[in-house]
Order: sequence, then C-alpha cells, then structure tokens
Amino acid sequence: MSSLLVDNIGELVTNVAGSGEGGPLGIRRRAALLVEEGEVAWVGPAADAPAADGRIDAAGAAVLPGFVDSHAHLVFAGDRAAEFAARMAGEPYTGGGIRTTVGATRAASDGELRATVRRLRAEALRQGTTTIEIKSGYGLTVADEARSLRIAAEVTGETTFLGAHVVPAEYADRPDEYVGLVCGPMLAAARPYARWIDVFCERGAFDADHARAILTCGQAVGLDVRVHANQLGPGPGVRLGVELGAASVDHCTHLTDADVDALASTASDDGQTATVATLLPGAEFSTRSPYPDARRLLDAGVTVALATDCNPGSSYTSSMPFCIALAVREMRMTPAEAVWAATAGGARALRRDDVGVLRPGARADLIILDAPSHLHLAYRPGVPLVRQVLHNGVPR
Ligand code: NIG
Ligand code: FE
Repeated sequence: MSSLLVDNIGELVTNVAGSGEGGPLGIRRRAALLVEEGEVAWVGPAADAPAADGRIDAAGAAVLPGFVDSHAHLVFAGDRAAEFAARMAGEPYTGGGIRTTVGATRAASDGELRATVRRLRAEALRQGTTTIEIKSGYGLTVADEARSLRIAAEVTGETTFLGAHVVPAEYADRPDEYVGLVCGPMLAAARPYARWIDVFCERGAFDADHARAILTCGQAVGLDVRVHANQLGPGPGVRLGVELGAASVDHCTHLTDADVDALASTASDDGQTATVATLLPGAEFSTRSPYPDARRLLDAGVTVALATDCNPGSSYTSSMPFCIALAVREMRMTPAEAVWAATAGGARALRRDDVGVLRPGARADLIILDAPSHLHLAYRPGVPLVRQVLHNGVPR
C-alpha cells in the first residue's frame, strides 16, 4: 500500500467544524495530511507527521478540500457567444436560447459530445473541482437524453436527468404530451445512467403541476430530486422542492419570505437544512441580472451551496474560484462562507459526506493554493491560484 504525505501546510481547511479555527472551516495551522488508498488516512500537526512513501511539500501554502460543483450542464454542442454579446448590448435573458443548443446537440455525434464533456471536466479539474454534477437537458428526445446521460456517466457518478428543461419546439402546442413522454419512455431510457431528476420550474418552462408530476415519477423509480427554481422571477419551484424533499433548489434568485421560511423549516439536527439553496452567481453575471441574496438565506439558517451552472447559454464558466469571488463581492457572503459553500455546501447539495471535507476516511480530494490562505480566492479574483489538485489521492 503506497502512502503520500502532504506536508508543511500553512493553513489546512478541513471543514470539520470545531476541529480548529474558523468555526465551520475547521482550520489547522502548520499541518500535514496523509493519503492512503485514495482516502485521507491522517490529519495532524506537521511536527507529528508520519513517514510515507511519497511527499508533497506545500511550502506553507493553504490546502482546501477540492471544490464540489453540484450544478453543471456539460453535455451540449455549439456555443451562444452571440447571444451573450446581444445581452451585453441590452437584450434580456429569457431561456429561449436553450432550444438553439438543443438543435446543435441533437445534430452532434457522440464523439463530439464526449469531447466537450471531457474538455470541460478537465478545465474544471485544473481549477480545483474534484466532484461535479452533470445534467442532461439539451437532447429532449428519448435517444438524445439517454446518450447525454450515458456520456456524462463516463466522467461522474453525479448525473441528473433534465428532460424537463424546456418543452422542445415540436411539442410547443402539446406540453401535456411532452410531460407524458418525459415521465414514460424518456425516464425509462435515462434511468440506468441517472442518480438525480431535475425540472426547470419557471414561467416559460414547466409549471408547478407539470414539475410535480415529473419529479414524483422520477422518485418512483429511485431518482432523488433537485429543482431549477425561482431563477427568472418568483414562483412555486422552491416550495415544490421542499414539499418533495429535494436535496437542493438551485438559483433562488427571486425569493419571497415564504420561500425562505420553507427552506429554513427543513433544518435538521446537524444544524444544516435538508434542502440546500444552491446559488449560481455565474448566471447572474452572464445574464446581467440581480444576484441572489445569500445573506438573507444564511441569516435564516438555510444551508447555501455555490456552483457554476456551467452551460453555453446563461453561465459559460467552469470556475468555482470565480463563483466564490462573485459571492463575496456581490452576494454578501464572507470569504469563509463562500469557501464552505463551494466545498462542504456542494457536498451537502449532493447528499455526500465523503467529499468537501478533509478528515480520516474522506476521499483524498484536495487543492493546494498558490496562496497562504483561503481568503485569497476572493481577494485575488481572476488569478489562477490552484497550484496542484489531488483527486482520489492522485496528483493531477
Ligand atoms: O440553469 N435555467 C435553465 N437552464 C440553464 C440555462 C440553460 C441555457 O440558457 O442554455 C440555467 O441557467
Ligand atoms: Fe442550470
């Protein structure tokens, strides 16, 4: 059995609450961490570090759990740079461009889709993302949704069936029939490759009744629920997610007090909420929209995650550090809250306890920064601060 010691860590963010400074971040100074068999085997003072077969000298830098990006749409073809440019010249974002990407995705070969997924997965890994969720949703036929999930499952276990992204053009005047297709043959074809089911519950996409019907069909075949909710305006998505026991409701840009109360009501014994509010500031950046108010959620006791929403329309970034910087500057999160939300928060949104944390038994997914502190992720926006990534204990 070979072992690897990450030694001489100036600041180790463990996310083991109370195990050091910084409250939930559990920060240890002058620390070391031992990796064996892809897992964290030991964490402690550098002065007490055990012998190991290999050694990485962190040279006093900060070490954090790898980022957990719990919301990404990587299976697509084409891009929508012109749509972005039009928005920056004053056009609004409506979600209507999704159909443009659906057309390009249907026309693409498996090899083209696979190449895009792998390129973006590698891009995210270089920026410190060690766990990523990937949705379907740009195929919207039985065959194209199934192949999107099959290709996504080649790079992650966190795959999400989003056949209910929009009603495709050919069903525009028959939305009930499309919902029947999603709940029937499309779900059956997607099921072998999917862990989650998601619906874009929004005006212009799916209303509460359709969303409830689709999500409960998914639950009936063993998929767990997450919801695109309250992105473009107020609506029923957040409360529907809470009603169905969703792991996460995502976007949460337009919330009423009743939405916040509903999320807060899912509080569990460990001080977190069973339904996480996942905020996606890349989408507000790229659609020039008001940002969600993370402070309001945090002050109400709601667990918050940050994710990229990486997709060719509303948020073409794979960078979790960029999202952290936006969350701190624009959403009233402290740097510590944003770092927690991008690691432990994302893990919580995926109902995972083996990632987003550095304790014995957790996966050895970690990043070494070119910086002495996690604060630099927000303090030095746009700078490639991730010096090295360990994924399953293997240096990348
Ligand atoms: O999460 N909101 C729905 N889906 C994506 C946008 C997809 C697109 O514009 O292509 C999102 O923002
Ligand atoms: Fe999304």
